[in-house]
Amino acid sequence: MSTTLITGGTVVTASGTQDADVLVEGEKIAMVLARRPGVEVTMAADRIIDATGKYVLPGGIDVHTHMEMPFGGTFSVDTFETGTRAAAWGGTTTIVDFAVQAKGTSLLATLDKWHAKADGNCAIDYGFHMIVSDVNDTTLKEMEACVSAGVNSFKMFMAYPGVFYATDGEILLAMQQAARLGATICMHAENGIAIDQLVAQALAAGRTDPVYHGLTRPPELEGEATSRAITLAAVAACPLYIVHLSASQALAAVAQARDTGQNVFAETCPQYLYLSLDDLARPDFEGAKFVASPPLRPREHQDSLWRGLRTNDLSVVSTDHCPFCFKDGKELGRGDFSKIPNGMPGVEHRMDLLHQGVVAGQLSLPRWVEVASTTPARMFGLYPRKGVIAAGSDADIVIYDPQATQTLSAATHHMNVDYSAYEGMQITGRVVTTLSRGSVVIDDGEYLGRAGHGTFLARGLNQYLL
Ligand code: URP
Ligand code: ZN
Ligand code: ZN
Repeated sequence: MSTTLITGGTVVTASGTQDADVLVEGEKIAMVLARRPGVEVTMAADRIIDATGKYVLPGGIDVHTHMEMPFGGTFSVDTFETGTRAAAWGGTTTIVDFAVQAKGTSLLATLDKWHAKADGNCAIDYGFHMIVSDVNDTTLKEMEACVSAGVNSFKMFMAYPGVFYATDGEILLAMQQAARLGATICMHAENGIAIDQLVAQALAAGRTDPVYHGLTRPPELEGEATSRAITLAAVAACPLYIVHLSASQALAAVAQARDTGQNVFAETCPQYLYLSLDDLARPDFEGAKFVASPPLRPREHQDSLWRGLRTNDLSVVSTDHCPFCFKDGKELGRGDFSKIPNGMPGVEHRMDLLHQGVVAGQLSLPRWVEVASTTPARMFGLYPRKGVIAAGSDADIVIYDPQATQTLSAATHHMNVDYSAYEGMQITGRVVTTLSRGSVVIDDGEYLGRAGHGTFLARGLNQYLL
């Protein structure tokens, strides 16, 4: 069994920082040894990595990605191969991607299809959530088989009528079944019925530019849907996880539910922390690059989101990585914003963008690790195999240089998409080395991984349930 010793670094976990060396044996962490002044310990290893002046972090866990996702007659452009490679470049060592049930198809056939897409192609480990878009007796029964197969979180949509949308009655049935199974419902909370009316009104009035994507999906309709999802979850006694929360109204609803002790959790994404409605309003159709749902919000929502991250009303930051190229992708919506494929690239930059929060004093170092790795692992049944630097855990380790600087750009990123939502942004901090289960995947600007190294993770239950 090969051994690696990571020496001289500062180990950062959700519970604090420690000057410590980390010994990896094979795929697992064997030992975390605190360094003490005046105490010299020598350990032998096949490979020594000098992490002096660097952070040693548990690999990032991005629990919201869409590789090769069918949407609006096209597909998101990162495959499991290109998307997981890009994730590794940015210090993410696990993704949880969404398998998408098409109407009229079964959940288990969908799961087989997603396994076929990912198997043999991933550079890092991966799991699946299941998108339920057709609630019927068979689907409800199949939820149990999904849980047995390690897929115990189900995404539902209150948006996109005619595509993924589920009625309140359907949501209640799925929540009742999830409650029986101990599974979590992940909710896309926007009032799609009202939004469709606003979209029709805007188009009829000749308002076709990308900014109207944002203006026809007001934050109040995210707040309303979030409150409704929380009420339905309370009736069903079902754990609820609000995905890609963007609006302060929605956050207030989550905070209130959490104050009553309900099993309600929420994530936000870097785009809602750093970008705004102003980006959607960029001229010459450039705003199309920023079309995602929920939409980017007016800047004032950002402060509440950062605060929510500190108070734990937002407990996870994921990316909702769903990239479409500008050319031939976003351009499908020239002259009609409602035809712009929804989604933005981001899987590569989540750790870096959140590190800017540390640099700016919005997050502590341990909290950075907690929202990007430890809590996602616990929320989706991967802890302590993932999400921590401790003996016995998988050796998913990132060596991060907090002093390095970089400029984000489509010219240098590794995602399979022709633009960056953060083009030109200066970042302090950079991944130097990424290990996935003890194998070096990224080292000093070089990709050393391979498609097929990543394995499927059958996940356990949400570890936060009261
Ligand atoms: O616009 C988005 N978010 N696209 C991906 C699908 C989803 O709703 O998460
Ligand atoms: Zn969604
Ligand atoms: Zn998504």
